[in-house]
Amino acid sequence: MIDGEEWRFSLEKFVINGGCRLCGEVTVSGAKNAAVAIIPAAMLADDICIIENVPAISDVSAIIDIMSQMGVDIRLVNKSTLRIDSRNIHTAVIPYEMAKHLRASYYFIGTLLGRFGQAMVAMPGGCDLGVRPIDQHIKGFEALGAEVSIERGMIDVSARSLIGNQIYFDVVSVGATINTMLAAVKANGLTIIENAAKEPHVVDLANFLNSMGADVRGAGTDVIKIRGVSSLHGVDYAIIPDQIEAGTYMVAAAATAGDVLIKNVIPKHLEPITAKLVKMGAEVYEYDDAVRVTRKGPVVKGTIKTMPHPGFPTDMQPQMTTLLTQAEGTSLVTEGVWDNRFRYVDELRRMGANIQVDGKVAIVEGNTPLTGAPVKATDLRAGAAMMIAGLIATGRTEIEDIYHIERGYEDMEVKLRSLGADIKKIYIPDSAIPQAL
Ligand code: EPZ
Repeated sequence: MIDGEEWRFSLEKFVINGGCRLCGEVTVSGAKNAAVAIIPAAMLADDICIIENVPAISDVSAIIDIMSQMGVDIRLVNKSTLRIDSRNIHTAVIPYEMAKHLRASYYFIGTLLGRFGQAMVAMPGGCDLGVRPIDQHIKGFEALGAEVSIERGMIDVSARSLIGNQIYFDVVSVGATINTMLAAVKANGLTIIENAAKEPHVVDLANFLNSMGADVRGAGTDVIKIRGVSSLHGVDYAIIPDQIEAGTYMVAAAATAGDVLIKNVIPKHLEPITAKLVKMGAEVYEYDDAVRVTRKGPVVKGTIKTMPHPGFPTDMQPQMTTLLTQAEGTSLVTEGVWDNRFRYVDELRRMGANIQVDGKVAIVEGNTPLTGAPVKATDLRAGAAMMIAGLIATGRTEIEDIYHIERGYEDMEVKLRSLGADIKKIYIPDSAIPQAL
């Protein structure tokens, strides 16, 4: 309420005054890209699942809403633990209105196909990274004996019975690998997935499914073998820490020449990021479940090419490119996974960056002092890059469209503030005339 009038807050921004070195400790939350697969996968169980280390992010909230509307009894028993009872699901249809807030709604297809032998789910929205094809997902479903049709923006999948098969993916796809696993765990016989994605969240899903009684072997390698089982039981399972959230804070520490201990990590999952940061002049100390990042010398120019795991992760590309604007010399960044993942460069240019983009390649001039400016988060990881840019810029940076950031980062401004950043979230009253009471 302002002056007795009721305002509708419709715009939120992060405001950062740059120039602070980040110092202290930060704890990483559960992995978004594991959570958006494991939480729907709990619907494959015949009884209750308890999922721990769930990140408090809007993508998870969207999944909870969808599953609740499907008749699943899903509730938070504390800030990071979900209790999921899927025994009374009453639909296998997820219309656009329910799915539109979640990019990863496609995991409901594999799960519902695996449980009911049918699913009707709205097509995932076109992503800010370019076209988001699902041809490999469909290839996996059809190989298992399902019929797939796409009409009026809905993917309709059905199978009288799912039969194990051999599937060779033309493209290494995290989503298609996960979706095929979800559909195959209760199929009849053996499924062999070749050219499979190897990301930590693929392995985490396999571990979750096996803890429910599935038979999934080889996750984390190019070949995953799944022997179908007749039923899966409930389980208590903890999601792995988020390697990209951890990597984001590692880059922020290096970018501000800070000294940050990043806790609740699996150092092995961070190897591609650690290796690149050390080459760029940071110091990274590894502990059992933490890493410490400092930088005393200059940022060293470098070459980055994003690739499927264990290559350098595409979800760290915007953050690293931002750091490279501070390097001594010119750097080269090649986006090897997505068609259009440099949209954020226009926003960095507003802050003084000098980056030339030609298709999937960006040439990043170093030694470009950044100055604060009003910018937008164009997608989740681009938003994280804007946060890092604001931290190193001189002056005030205002970041709009922060809902992108809150899709995948839990309390990012709180965590940054605890490390010494001068950052706050502000609410802009709606531009509409205040509503008379
Ligand atoms: C997952 O997306 C992640 N999202 C993305 O993270 C991540 O960038 C991506 O994997 C790569 O690691 C989730 O896990 C929810 P892909 P996904 O299928 O599964 C092409 C973030 O910031 N492709 O591995 O959709 C596709 O166009 C998000 O957390 C096909 O051609 O990615 C892309 O070029 C952004 N046909 C490449 O494969 C298909 O059927 C990799 O896509 C599927 C994908």
